[in-house]
Amino acid sequence: MPEESNFIWPKNGYFYNIYSSKPFHIETNKLIDHKAEENVWSEPVLFTDSSTVAIKADMPGGLGGSSDDHVHYDFVEWWIILKGQLEFQIGNYQPFIASTNDIVSAPIGLRHLIISSGNKQSVRLIIGVPGGSGHDNKKLKGSQNDPIPKRKNPPNLIHTDMQEIIKKFGCSSWSKTILKNQHTQAELISEKPNTNNSSKYKDSFNQWYIVIQGKIIFSFDNDKDINAVEGDIIYIPKNFVYYVKSLGTKNSLRISISKPR
Ligand SMILES: [Fe+2]
Repeated sequence: MPEESNFIWPKNGYFYNIYSSKPFHIETNKLIDHKAEENVWSEPVLFTDSSTVAIKADMPGGLGGSSDDHVHYDFVEWWIILKGQLEFQIGNYQPFIASTNDIVSAPIGLRHLIISSGNKQSVRLIIGVPGGSGHDNKKLKGSQNDPIPKRKNPPNLIHTDMQEIIKKFGCSSWSKTILKNQHTQAELISEKPNTNNSSKYKDSFNQWYIVIQGKIIFSFDNDKDINAVEGDIIYIPKNFVYYVKSLGTKNSLRISISKPR
């Protein structure tokens, strides 16, 4: 396990890293605003015991260098779309479009190629694993177009359509495993607004959250509150007591990401 450390982004001072013993908050929207002048960019934002996370902005047609056909034989790479639309080619499956809040994963050994589509900038989180392979293994698409498997229920869908999931599971409070493999577990949690009440948690694993919908206050016994909005990332170290309160009138949605548990 590496030494505990924080890294500072040289250009803007947003810190991005752990293995921290304290919770922290990455205000993704501020980061995206900070980069407003640049259409195409990519920055690492988080490094945990389960995940490496980078944010990448791209323009239609893959002008940010998206068009890089490659494969990983050592981990499942996945993406959360924060903004815009992207065309994904995974393995020999028919190319498909993923939109804001959708999740896409590339199973081990399936080549992938990602091209920003639509007519605006796209922004996505790229989630890998510590020590995972880079883009060294090139693999081109085969000549056939296989249909994407018809299974619609998570976990481990190639394309998790967030709107479909919300429609399907409704507006009670629930939790669904979206992804589970040898390195990573991701749980999508829907929670009714609980303005008068916070839920208390103390988990035995390091995790990071990303807020998909709504406003969520994370509070602590001896630390200042984190007011998180859509797109924000919150890191919570294991065994840390924290409280979660969802604000507003509709359910909040967040994803918890950790090692498999
Ligand atoms: Fe990749």
